[in-house]
Amino acid sequence: MTTRRLLMCRPTHFAVTYRINPWMDPTAPYDNALAVSQWESLHRALTDAGHTIELIDPLPGLPDMVFAANGATVVDGKVLAVQFRDPERADEAPAYRAWFESKGFEVYDSKHTNEGEGDILLAGDVLLAGTGFRTVHAAHLQTQEVFGRPVVSLQLVDPAYYHLDTALCVLDERTIAYLPSAFSPGSQAVLRRMFPDAVIATEADAAVLGLNAVSDGRTVVLPAQATTLAAALRERGYQTVGVDLSELRKAGGGPKCCVLEVRG
Ligand code: ARG
Repeated sequence: MTTRRLLMCRPTHFAVTYRINPWMDPTAPYDNALAVSQWESLHRALTDAGHTIELIDPLPGLPDMVFAANGATVVDGKVLAVQFRDPERADEAPAYRAWFESKGFEVYDSKHTNEGEGDILLAGDVLLAGTGFRTVHAAHLQTQEVFGRPVVSLQLVDPAYYHLDTALCVLDERTIAYLPSAFSPGSQAVLRRMFPDAVIATEADAAVLGLNAVSDGRTVVLPAQATTLAAALRERGYQTVGVDLSELRKAGGGPKCCVLEVRG
């Protein structure tokens, strides 16, 4: 029931060598071996939660390929390929596309900048779609056409929360957690209207990428540092599992960024 099919990419070639979001500092030290062992702890937590994890081969020269969420959007067995804003990540798109083709999926070309599940999240029957930094509004329209599901566009306004999945987490079919200040006033009003019972995250939780969490509706795997959010989730009846991804956070990524859900 809560078991998911997930795609992940080992951070074999992880590095911070360019800056495409405010978290990244190419002059600061990072530890590739620690990144790998932290990623393995995430892999273990998701396996322990009962999920089936498949792996895509990491490619040299693509240090952000570990962030599988940006590899595609997959709903109802259909795959919408991605198109990255930044040339540094462009070559990840055909690699993810090829993985899905090799598994027999029907893949749709992306006509616009679209960073996959980083910006497009399924919440019940609708897709929530972020724009403002990466995925463009035209991609939301294409997403609606491809999947035949309503797409609700949300305007991101804080460069630190440049992908929707850094500012909003879908907890289950009816509930989300989010950081209001990451959204425009109109988008905040939309979220209040759609999710009156949402969990409102604190700035401190968002600042450790606490909202970049993987929820199966029962267990939420989130950054260990997001302690206030974890307590709020437990109060709502979710089980929480904290993982430390401090090295990957230096690239602006957390647990959810490392996971792409393959929905049959
Ligand atoms: N360094 C990567 C980038 O800026 C991080 C991607 C994080 N992925 C995500 N789904 N938020 O593109």
